Amino acid sequence: MTSFRVGLLGHGTVGGALHELLDARAGAIEATTGRRPEVSGVLTRSHGDFQEILAASDLIVELIGGLEPARDYLLRALRAGRHVVTANKQVLAEHGDELFAAAREAGVELRFEAAVGGVVPVIRVIHETLAAAYIERVHGIVNGTTNFILTEMARTGESYADALRQAQELGFAEADPTDDVTGKDAAAKMAIVARLAFGARLTVDQVDYEGIERITPDDIEYAKELGLSLKLIGTAERVDGGVSVRVHPAFLYGAHPLAAVNGSFNAVTVESTAITEITLSGPGAGGSQTASAVLGDVISAMIPPAVPPGPAAPVEPVTDVESAFYLHLEVADRPGVLAQIAEILGLQGVSVKSVVQKGLGADARLTIVVHPARESRFLAAVGLIGRLDFLRVPPRWIRVIEEVFE
Ligand SMILES: NC(=O)c1ccc[n+]([C@@H]2O[C@H](COP(=O)([O-])OP(=O)(O)OC[C@H]3O[C@@H](n4cnc5c(N)ncnc54)[C@H](OP(=O)(O)O)[C@@H]3O)[C@@H](O)[C@H]2O)c1
Repeated sequence: MTSFRVGLLGHGTVGGALHELLDARAGAIEATTGRRPEVSGVLTRSHGDFQEILAASDLIVELIGGLEPARDYLLRALRAGRHVVTANKQVLAEHGDELFAAAREAGVELRFEAAVGGVVPVIRVIHETLAAAYIERVHGIVNGTTNFILTEMARTGESYADALRQAQELGFAEADPTDDVTGKDAAAKMAIVARLAFGARLTVDQVDYEGIERITPDDIEYAKELGLSLKLIGTAERVDGGVSVRVHPAFLYGAHPLAAVNGSFNAVTVESTAITEITLSGPGAGGSQTASAVLGDVISAMIPPAVPPGPAAPVEPVTDVESAFYLHLEVADRPGVLAQIAEILGLQGVSVKSVVQKGLGADARLTIVVHPARESRFLAAVGLIGRLDFLRVPPRWIRVIEEVFE
């Protein structure tokens, strides 16, 4: 087995998390790719030498951010024939032409999944999965900071300034949030998306962008009354033979797939006649989440073209998972029935969340929702309830998915 040497430029939030993840997953990656990834060197402001790391690496990961020296390091790595992975939207939006040309000339990979949408696989889906589709429009929530602020304003009625302060305290906004709240960060991401989806060469300055600083709680309240929610939306679309790329706050109707995307989550909708529409959503930032997207790119660069999965190891399937349930019962309408059912559920450790009772002549229909419980315990309770003499028909039950994405 040979090693695959990965040079790390930057060892902050994402770089540090990547280092840990790479060490933890090295064995599994070796099993899949036949090569064991190892960190060949780390560069920070105070540590390491770029030229030495380059000479000792098969692939360079750039997690410094900003334009310089990131651009210089990326170009030098590509020209030296190294694969490159970056999460840096600014440098790609500003110097994409130069960087992609250098990668093409050297015949190496330049991968950047984490630059747009964090761990949401927007880049791969547009560039690879939908390579055959004629994409007409991409729009999305590509900045978690602003989505968190708008979500908090809608939830609590607080002002933009208060919601921003809270985002900073919780680590969802930087000390200097300018690029996020003005829409500039989203504009850089949409410029990258437009390049991939339409082959459009655009820099951030050519994207029309507007931020959320002027939004007041009244705007949001008004939207709520109309069943609308307010989001900072980035759009890249084909219009009249050209391409329009823009970022601005927009109201969405409740049924829109982006309307339900709350908190710091990101989501992107891709539209094309061939596929109708695909929406992808998930965490847009965070050290370990972003590192996971970066490591996915490293693995892809290790195995071009993709190889089938390696041999699978036997595992014990888990069958007795936790779930919430809806339980439907038809019973004789007489005193004590509900108490007896609740007692049987309680003895199995299953607690009732809500009950709706409706009269059916001499009988009654009970629809009960229970909190998550081990399926085996719930089914044991249902078995006992099914034997009660006041039951008119066998119990019916359906699982309830209670996850709330915020
Ligand atoms: N954080 C996220 O959730 C997230 C999400 C998506 C994408 N990204 C992108 O990921 C990249 C890294 O972000 P981050 O949050 O990890 O940044 P960070 O925590 O600020 O870390 C930056 C790292 O780069 C090093 N560095 C800065 N200037 C340098 C220079 N001139 N020479 C050498 N090293 C230098 C820093 O060194 P010191 O340790 O010496 O300060 C630090 O280790 C950025 O492009 C960002 O946009 C981040």
